[in-house]
Amino acid sequence: MAEAVILLAVKKIGIALGNEALSQASSLFKKFITQLTELQGSMGRISRELRLIHGFLCRMDVRNRNNESYEIWVQQLRMLVHGIEDIVDEYLYLVGHKHDTGWGTYLKKGFRRPSALLSLNSIASLVKEAEMNLVHLFQAKDRWVSLVGGENSSDSSYVVERSQHLASISRSLGEEDLVGVDTNREKLEHWLSGDDSERSMIVLLGMGGLGKTALAANVYKKEREKFECHAWVSISQTYSIKNVLKCLITEFYKEKKDTPGNMDGMDIKGLQDELKTFLEDRKYLIVLDDVWAPEAVNDLFGALVQNQKGSRVIVTTRIEGVAHLAFEDRRVTLEALSEEESWELFCKMVFSTDTNHKCPTEVEASACKIVGKCKGIPLAIVTVGRLLYVRDKTKEEFNRICDQLDWELVNNPSMEHVRNILYLSFIYLPTYLKSCFLYCSLFPEDYLFQRKKLVRLWVAEGFIEERGESTLEEVAEGYLAELVRRNMLQLVERNSFGRMKKFRMHDLLRELAVDLCHRHCFGVAYAEDKPGGSHPEDGRRLVVHKLNKDFHRSCSSIHCLRSIIILDNTMPSFTLLPLLSEKCRYMSVLELSGLPIEKIPDAIGDLFNLRYLGLRDSKVKLLPKSVEKLSNLLTLDLYSSDIQEFPGGIVKLKKLRHLFVAKVNDPQWRKIRSFSGVRISNGLGNLTSLQTLHALEVDDESVRQLGELGQLRSLGLCNVKEVYCGRLCESLMQMQFLHRLDVNASDEDEVLQFNILPPNLQTLCLTGRLAEGLLGESPDLFQAVAEQNLYLLHLYWSQLREDPLPSLSRLSNLTELYFCRAYNGEQLAFLTGWFPKLKTLRLIDLPNLQRLEMQQGAMVTLEELILTNLSSMTEVPAGIEFLMPLKYLVFHEITRDFLTSLRQCSRLPAMQWWYTLRD
Ligand SMILES: *[C@@H]1O[C@H](CO)[C@@H](O)[C@H](O)[C@H]1NC(C)=O
Ligand SMILES: *[C@@H]1O[C@H](CO)[C@@H](O)[C@H](O)[C@H]1NC(C)=O
Ligand SMILES: *[C@@H]1O[C@H](CO)[C@@H](O)[C@H](O)[C@H]1NC(C)=O
Ligand SMILES: *[C@@H]1O[C@H](CO)[C@@H](O)[C@H](O)[C@H]1NC(C)=O
Ligand SMILES: *[C@@H]1O[C@H](CO)[C@@H](O)[C@H](O)[C@H]1NC(C)=O
Ligand SMILES: *[C@@H]1O[C@H](CO)[C@@H](O)[C@H](O)[C@H]1NC(C)=O
Repeated sequence: MAEAVILLAVKKIGIALGNEALSQASSLFKKFITQLTELQGSMGRISRELRLIHGFLCRMDVRNRNNESYEIWVQQLRMLVHGIEDIVDEYLYLVGHKHDTGWGTYLKKGFRRPSALLSLNSIASLVKEAEMNLVHLFQAKDRWVSLVGGENSSDSSYVVERSQHLASISRSLGEEDLVGVDTNREKLEHWLSGDDSERSMIVLLGMGGLGKTALAANVYKKEREKFECHAWVSISQTYSIKNVLKCLITEFYKEKKDTPGNMDGMDIKGLQDELKTFLEDRKYLIVLDDVWAPEAVNDLFGALVQNQKGSRVIVTTRIEGVAHLAFEDRRVTLEALSEEESWELFCKMVFSTDTNHKCPTEVEASACKIVGKCKGIPLAIVTVGRLLYVRDKTKEEFNRICDQLDWELVNNPSMEHVRNILYLSFIYLPTYLKSCFLYCSLFPEDYLFQRKKLVRLWVAEGFIEERGESTLEEVAEGYLAELVRRNMLQLVERNSFGRMKKFRMHDLLRELAVDLCHRHCFGVAYAEDKPGGSHPEDGRRLVVHKLNKDFHRSCSSIHCLRSIIILDNTMPSFTLLPLLSEKCRYMSVLELSGLPIEKIPDAIGDLFNLRYLGLRDSKVKLLPKSVEKLSNLLTLDLYSSDIQEFPGGIVKLKKLRHLFVAKVNDPQWRKIRSFSGVRISNGLGNLTSLQTLHALEVDDESVRQLGELGQLRSLGLCNVKEVYCGRLCESLMQMQFLHRLDVNASDEDEVLQFNILPPNLQTLCLTGRLAEGLLGESPDLFQAVAEQNLYLLHLYWSQLREDPLPSLSRLSNLTELYFCRAYNGEQLAFLTGWFPKLKTLRLIDLPNLQRLEMQQGAMVTLEELILTNLSSMTEVPAGIEFLMPLKYLVFHEITRDFLTSLRQCSRLPAMQWWYTLRD
């Protein structure tokens, strides 16, 4: 693990010796070039030495772990490297900081004003000392540690992994990969659909790694539509009954695209009652995943109504005692796979499709041994299988892995069997993936990671290596895909056009990683119930799951922290940010989203290292002028805060890549100004690194400067007026990477005049009137739209008189189509063959629409149809039966009369649709 720390230090030195720092340093220390050169020479040598050590560690035989002398040596090394990182940061601070203001704070606090030269000299001597220590330590390893396997570079390269680029191979676990689950699946399906109307409880029991959750998820996905409502909640070890209740309620209401008011104010009793009322006369399906104690379920029993509707509750657990919650004939005990099944699964994982998953005879013997060690546990088989998948299929390689597994199993008897196997997979991760993987384990159990957010965090943490022409974000997405392929992260959800969207970490892998993080001071997860002992002096990252009142006191050793992420938004935060800004001057990631922060202290400008500042959903109205000093900032997230304007200096943040600034005025998105952004007029064109900008309030000047932002991938604009459109189109055409564009008009009468769109758009959301007489006369916009390969199209407030569908129907890859006040006509018809990939169709507030028709063979893959407030519609859409079965069909805000027609309509099968009535 020390190798990840080393790699990060090497990168940091790279920054210190990079052009930017070099030129700053030489202008600041013009007269002391000799000292400076010497210092830089030292740093260069340290960097080379670190690379050697990194190579050495990567080649280390796995079997040296647990050897006390070796472990001590590695620990010394890690501390030294952390020390080096601190010195380099200090140096960067010295050369990069605007000293006028920086020194001002020194004076205020009563410090003596340090002379820059003095600082330079003291840094130089620290660097020299570190260099000596490092050389010494590296030599000492030969005296201290005599290593198994020696340094025979050809055959002791046990661990080194030439990072194999797996980009070409893309395949993750799918349903077809489940082996030996058919009987259990059938049993479950039978119990779910059985005709006994009494609510019943079903338990899936088995040790970690047997695939309980996978099985439950599989059946849940297939069967849930047969219930009136359904919810999936992970309980885990640190559950709180209140949170579980809240989760359940939110899940249920999500179905209805609605939320009950004021849940935060309710106590347990209130929440239970709310849930009870909801479930009372519904046929419900609930999955309680990973229950550790029967009490967890007993606490819920009051709310899980015993109705006679055929409701079902599925519980998965590792604990025998929990199984008794269900009758004996409603329990499934998952068994390990048989030898044959294990072998089948293993071969599927390791050997490629083009060889028909056949094991070459050469490696068969060792492969058999490896499979045997997995004891039929699917997670172990899959994980070790994925490890072998990316390695040479030679006898030597297979034997080596087999030996190492043996070693793990013998030397770590305390670890659970599976964990040893998982551990080996971790060791074989390339260094750059190790950091990324460990990082994920700092988040709570069952945390859902969002691809884009995780990518931004990884980039800010400095985990991502440059690769050719790709942006760091693209490389990071590659890492994510690689972790999924290796089964180290699990893909939970894709978006409508197939991109990976949400991830989770298997709890066994997480437990393993948590332990590693802690031992190697990679980072700490802080939770109220176990705050003690979790404060290694040189921990670098802190993820706070649950703040407790003593948090401030336990912050004594936070000055080394490089990143802090707070996930608990119930804590008053007024003192937190000032504390962090003053004490943690090397901070590079501050993620404080959801905290009720109002004021940002001036001292934030001193965090010269800051690369990520997350204040989403906060109460921030203004940023202090000092933010202009955050010259390394990559992500600034003020989405859904109260932000109104920026200080002018914001345009000095030349490295800024992702800027979210938005105030949500109407969470339902139905008003013309649901959303407002921030104005940046002067110097917008200087923010040339921007990839994401949501949302900009445009004016004459900014429309012109937008064209400079050639890196933009995703752009949101508000306050667009007809007069800007010409310039705007010109600017947009400069953006060859742009794939998402949101344009919002300033009011409902402004016409959005677009006749041309940038070349690589995938998502287009237009809010505002579109030019009339589109078809035939001047079909500009729609022609431009139809030439794009769009996946998502949202038209709000377009107020078209003519039916836009015929021209849009050329968008054959479209997966999502929303109309909200888009069309004023009386009829819409979807013809045969149109929108073959569409998954979601929403029609909202189309006041004159009387007749909606779907021909057979239109929208053949539609999953969701949501019709809201179509006030003139009196008959059930013609041809709706051709779309059945939909996963989700809703009629919102309908009249009682319409409800009656729906109920009487024989073309609609019972129970497969939802409705809400108009008030
Ligand atoms: C650890 O390494 C040292 C020196 O190489 C050796 O003498 C010792 O036996 C090893 N200890 C274990 C527990 O393997
Ligand atoms: C190093 O590897 C070579 C060839 O693989 C082998 O002949 C030699 O014995 C090895 N040396 C040691 C010390 O293991
Ligand atoms: C934008 O950058 C240019 C060149 O770096 C600089 O001269 C100009 O002052 C900057 N504009 C603003 C508003 O900072
Ligand atoms: C306006 O723009 C934002 C993105 O910048 C988008 O999310 C929103 O849906 C748009 N529409 C409305 C009605 O605000
Ligand atoms: C749909 O997507 C495919 C694959 O990306 C592409 O080849 C095709 O041109 C697209 N069709 C349209 C109409 O854009
Ligand atoms: C529903 O549509 C009508 C126009 O038909 C409109 O006046 C009303 O505001 C809409 N309801 C909502 C909640 O937006």
